[in-house]
Amino acid sequence: MKRKLLLICFWCITVVTAKAQNEALGQLKSYTPTAENMASRKDFEDMKFGMFIHWGIYSELGAGEWVMHERRIPYHSYKRLASFFRPEDFDAKAWVALAKAAGMKYITITSRHHDGFSMFKTQASSYNIVDATPYHKDPLMELAKECEKEGIELHFYYSLLDWGRPDYAFGHTIVNGAPENADWDSYIKFMKTQLTELITNYPGVKGIWFDGEWERRTVNWHFDEIYPLIHKLNSAVLIGNNHHLTPLVGEDFQMFEKDLPGGNTTGFSAESKISALPLESCETINNSWGFNITDHSYKSVKQIINYLVNDAGRNANFLLNIGPMPNGKIQPEFVDTLTKVGAWMKKNGESIYGTRGNVIAPQQWGVVTSKDNALYAHILSSPGQDYIFIPTLKQKIVMVSVLNGSTNLKFRQQPEGVFVYLKGIEPDTYDTIVKLTTN
Ligand code: GLC
Repeated sequence: MKRKLLLICFWCITVVTAKAQNEALGQLKSYTPTAENMASRKDFEDMKFGMFIHWGIYSELGAGEWVMHERRIPYHSYKRLASFFRPEDFDAKAWVALAKAAGMKYITITSRHHDGFSMFKTQASSYNIVDATPYHKDPLMELAKECEKEGIELHFYYSLLDWGRPDYAFGHTIVNGAPENADWDSYIKFMKTQLTELITNYPGVKGIWFDGEWERRTVNWHFDEIYPLIHKLNSAVLIGNNHHLTPLVGEDFQMFEKDLPGGNTTGFSAESKISALPLESCETINNSWGFNITDHSYKSVKQIINYLVNDAGRNANFLLNIGPMPNGKIQPEFVDTLTKVGAWMKKNGESIYGTRGNVIAPQQWGVVTSKDNALYAHILSSPGQDYIFIPTLKQKIVMVSVLNGSTNLKFRQQPEGVFVYLKGIEPDTYDTIVKLTTN
């Protein structure tokens, strides 16, 4: 009886919290995605692997994108970085070529980060790369054109948080959904202007990746105006928001920061339930998002492949970040790792691109992806015996082989699942992939 009561209380709290979350200020009440949007979602899920890029005037200090905040650099001093930002070696072709060589299908790049500097030409503020730096060029336009030419999809990261603008009023108390003593409406208007520019001026933009909501949980973000505005400008654009919550009405994909879906290793995702939307994990190649000259904790090729495969098995994309140097070049360690990952993808991409995950729950030895009449068992760690057992598979299996191999493997299918016998096969350094053909 006591347990029942407790359960009912728990249920009530959950429902009330979920309701409160949905009824927070400025949220949409309903949203029906268009056919174009649904098609974008499918394409997004098919792509599986993307390049995240954090690049801004902060890159000059080589200490990550939070440097202004962390070193408490006053805004007027920080702004000086713009006056000598001249990334002469930036080459959109080289960046897109690297993404392609890595087997990545899309790029998500910071258009404006928390420091408030716009890395694109905007009419909404002169604090942008064309008007405030000696470079005077718009790298995002060059990137957009190159992506379009090369068939790489482009998404823009956009920070809701701004450490410098007086109308954002960083640090002010929030009263009735707005910062005290500030023109919050002006900030919302500013964001709408910029988002309109990003979607209408740049060819081929397919996604907006919001970040920074978590800085203000009680403010009215006016998502009920911002999301419809984006979808009105182009309903195929996918909206995601790194608020670490269960997706809000109007969003088209769900992201997990530094975690696989359902994981909460970083403590960011405690309040986030896995939704039915397309999923994406983001992680960075070392421990920094923006260029960091002392961060040498580079992830290995094996770690990256492991992450990507684990994501695919959980039906998620993997968005892997690099922070280019202030001159616009990408450091050789990143190029080297990405090229090696790309070589692996070239050989094994059949078992990743266009697949869907969550075929079975992740197993001790790895995960399973599926596409058309094939299932791919990715053996990422030794099963500890010379067979694997794939539980609950109902499809009739007609043949089992090692991907890219010529010999067929023995298997036994019973109502509980399938045994695949691995005797005699060489385990792969990264991922031994067994292909099961169904009829
Ligand atoms: C966090 C960081 C931000 C970074 C983002 C990428 O939100 O605050 O700097 O851009 O993660 O996921």
